[in-house]
Amino acid sequence: MSNIIKNDTKIKDVRRLYLDFFANKGHQIYDSMPLVPDDASLLFTNAGMVQFKDIFTGKIPIPETPRATSSQLCIRAGGKHNDLENVGYTARHHTLFEMLGNFSFGNYFKEQAIDYAWEFVTQVLGFNKSVLYVSIHESDDEAFKLWSKHIDSSHIKRMGDKDNFWQMGDSGPCGPCSEIYVDQGEKYFNSDEDYFGGEGDRFLEIWNLVFMQYNQKDGKKSPLPKPSIDTGMGLERVIALLEGKINNFDTSLFAPLMECIAQLTNKTYHHDDVLLDNITNLSPSEIKEFREIQASFRVIADHARSVTFLLAQGVNFDKEGRGYVLRRILRRAVRHGYLLGLRHAFLYKVISAVCETMGEHYTYLAERKNTIIEQCKNEEERFFETIESGMELFNKELKQLLDSKTTLFSGEIAFKLYDTYGFPLDLTQDMLREKSIEVDMQCFENCMNEQKNRSKASWKGSGDTLKEGDFNLLLSKFGTNTFVGYTHLNSESKILAILDSHFKSTEFLKSGQKGYVMLETTPFYPESGGPIGDKGELLKKNSIIAKVLDTQKYFGLNLSLVECQSSLNTGESVIARVNETLRTEITKHHSATHLLHLALRNILGNHIAQAGSLVESNRLRFDFSHPKSLSGEELQQIEQYVNEQIINASRQICETMNIAEAKAKGAMALFGEKYGENVRVISFGNSIELCGGIHVQNTAEIGSFYIIKESSVSSGVRRIEAVCGKAAYQYGKNALETIAKAKELLKAQDLLQGIEKIKKELVEVKEKNNKSKQFVRNLNYEMIENIKLIILKLDFEPKDAKEAIDKAKNENENVAILLITESNDKVTITAGVKNAPIKAGAWVKEVALVLGGNGGGRDDFATAGGKDKTKINEALETAKKFAIERINTRH
Ligand code: ALA
Repeated sequence: MSNIIKNDTKIKDVRRLYLDFFANKGHQIYDSMPLVPDDASLLFTNAGMVQFKDIFTGKIPIPETPRATSSQLCIRAGGKHNDLENVGYTARHHTLFEMLGNFSFGNYFKEQAIDYAWEFVTQVLGFNKSVLYVSIHESDDEAFKLWSKHIDSSHIKRMGDKDNFWQMGDSGPCGPCSEIYVDQGEKYFNSDEDYFGGEGDRFLEIWNLVFMQYNQKDGKKSPLPKPSIDTGMGLERVIALLEGKINNFDTSLFAPLMECIAQLTNKTYHHDDVLLDNITNLSPSEIKEFREIQASFRVIADHARSVTFLLAQGVNFDKEGRGYVLRRILRRAVRHGYLLGLRHAFLYKVISAVCETMGEHYTYLAERKNTIIEQCKNEEERFFETIESGMELFNKELKQLLDSKTTLFSGEIAFKLYDTYGFPLDLTQDMLREKSIEVDMQCFENCMNEQKNRSKASWKGSGDTLKEGDFNLLLSKFGTNTFVGYTHLNSESKILAILDSHFKSTEFLKSGQKGYVMLETTPFYPESGGPIGDKGELLKKNSIIAKVLDTQKYFGLNLSLVECQSSLNTGESVIARVNETLRTEITKHHSATHLLHLALRNILGNHIAQAGSLVESNRLRFDFSHPKSLSGEELQQIEQYVNEQIINASRQICETMNIAEAKAKGAMALFGEKYGENVRVISFGNSIELCGGIHVQNTAEIGSFYIIKESSVSSGVRRIEAVCGKAAYQYGKNALETIAKAKELLKAQDLLQGIEKIKKELVEVKEKNNKSKQFVRNLNYEMIENIKLIILKLDFEPKDAKEAIDKAKNENENVAILLITESNDKVTITAGVKNAPIKAGAWVKEVALVLGGNGGGRDDFATAGGKDKTKINEALETAKKFAIERINTRH
């Protein structure tokens, strides 16, 4: 491998070298943007250019410095660029990797891009010219000419769209590209396909230069306002080459993770070159075993990195969307741990190693480490609970298949594995891949659809779910519409387009119908970043023609869901009116959310990261990472802190500034939001946040703030629900009314004293009750024949006597019980009989006569009253005599 590198550079910090190189060439350095882009059409940030795509398309003006450079964390685990299934089985694929890139926004184009790349690769990285090759788009004569300056034409190859045309997704900026390859030599690469342009791995692509010329929309390409440059170089690959490794996972970047996995599994991880060098000494079964172990190590190491960063950036395990991709990644890693013999949660330990090795550059990992570990461990433990049974079911089915030599795995079993045992479909497919068996997808989908029909999804749209509909049509016809709601609650506007309830374009809606309206300028705020969408009305000649039920953002379009009261047509002019009362209250809850966020960080610590937020007109909900439940004292401190900020009456300051300035100011930036070069910063006193939402002018408008609930969302994520504004007033008022009612019920001036009194009384009653219950259990009795006979004078209330009798009857098969109790100068005789030849009515009557009273009742239960307390003993005697006589005369 020594012939690759001209000088003996052992460069670890390629990232720093790259950024510095381009900074010296007038590029502004940008931080890695969040992995979750603010773009519903894109699952994850999958390339360095994602944070600049609105600049390329002209939606955002070109920044003052029209050149940029970054080292961008990317995830390719779903959507257009998905590498998940390849990880572990190829030398170069990762779900998470870092992409080094330089970008020109209409500033320089092909020539300089090629010159810079050549200089960096040969001068800084030190690659020898003889090992470098480039591919260009087959039509690109210009690129051919420009490369020929540096490199022999035999090292340049023209290729088609498949290899040399790059696009971010199905829509967005794109263009022909040119890729730089490094020849790794023939030592380890000597297959028939190991020629330049072949399928073999010998010629390794390291850098892609995209000549951004088009914007792809609705299947059509239109020229971009200014031709631009987007490039991407895989950091992991470059480091592998520099370290002379033929597999990215064998480099120093992954070494600490491999060590950690080796310790956990007690197995050895072999580097590719070592295996290949010793291949003649190994048996085929040893090679197979080593390869399997290698693949599992690599999957675990790769996936641990993705899980770490996704969790750190606020993505949570979920049943759908991005959270489900995260879950799939974790489960795939767990399955490989299982293959290596692990039977308990382990990935969280590898994650700890990721935080340590990558924490130096990504400093937020240290802050969130404990929370991430806890979240991961919980999720793993849950999967480990079912993996064993799932694997059993899988292996049983697989064995049957292999025995019967079929190659289609039952869709029903795959669905059962998914539904009952939590095996994502791609995990099952992955497990079958090695055996060249496929899942019966038709059947799997049928099962899935049946289940979906059983739990039909709700109709309401959300800007975050990937939706199908005529959005591109609207975008290409009208672009995005303008939001004027920061300053206006009413606006005259035109209906540009209408979508029906299935998001299909339509010319009109009839009275009573629901659908989505795109207004040319709209005062309705679309749900985003927490606050729900605005409601209101559309009016024509002062009468309401449609109610606006909700407003959402779809692919950048601001659409209002309407219910028509009369017909609505495209092209019509209307007055759009926001429901002011609701908006005002939403605004208060939104500003209160910022204050709450600050309070949490101040009181609980800087590890707090927002994990979700919902802001409505009568409550707010804020989810955040924190490892344990909050104590009453902490909640009080938080509530007090927020109220102090309200009382301080801090004025809102809204500024637009450079992202770097905003960060220097200490602005809290949320993961999951994409920030352009210029960002909107909202401050209230010490609360400084990047935010595109609407806020109160002064915190005093919030009124007051009460936390009404604290709970857990998932492990490591807590939720606070709170109210402010009108809802807080209502909350306070309800509380006071409840207190007033309670006082009335307690007949107490002072509620607390009243409660104390009741508590004391309750204790007394309980004691007495306990005493009587105790007593009942220990009642003296005599057995006459097989009948339990209980005759006693007790210190009970008559109702307790009844209870005692019921109990005695319940607990015994044959029983006759008579109790004499005394209260308020009255003597009461109560008797109950079960399966005994005594009639309770006659019995109490006989006894009552002795006591100077009278009474009677049913055969199984009776009561009677008496007056003469002096005769109680005599009465007891009579009762006994009567009972024994009856029992004896039974025969
Ligand atoms: N955006 C280009 C890529 O990802 C550079 O390959």
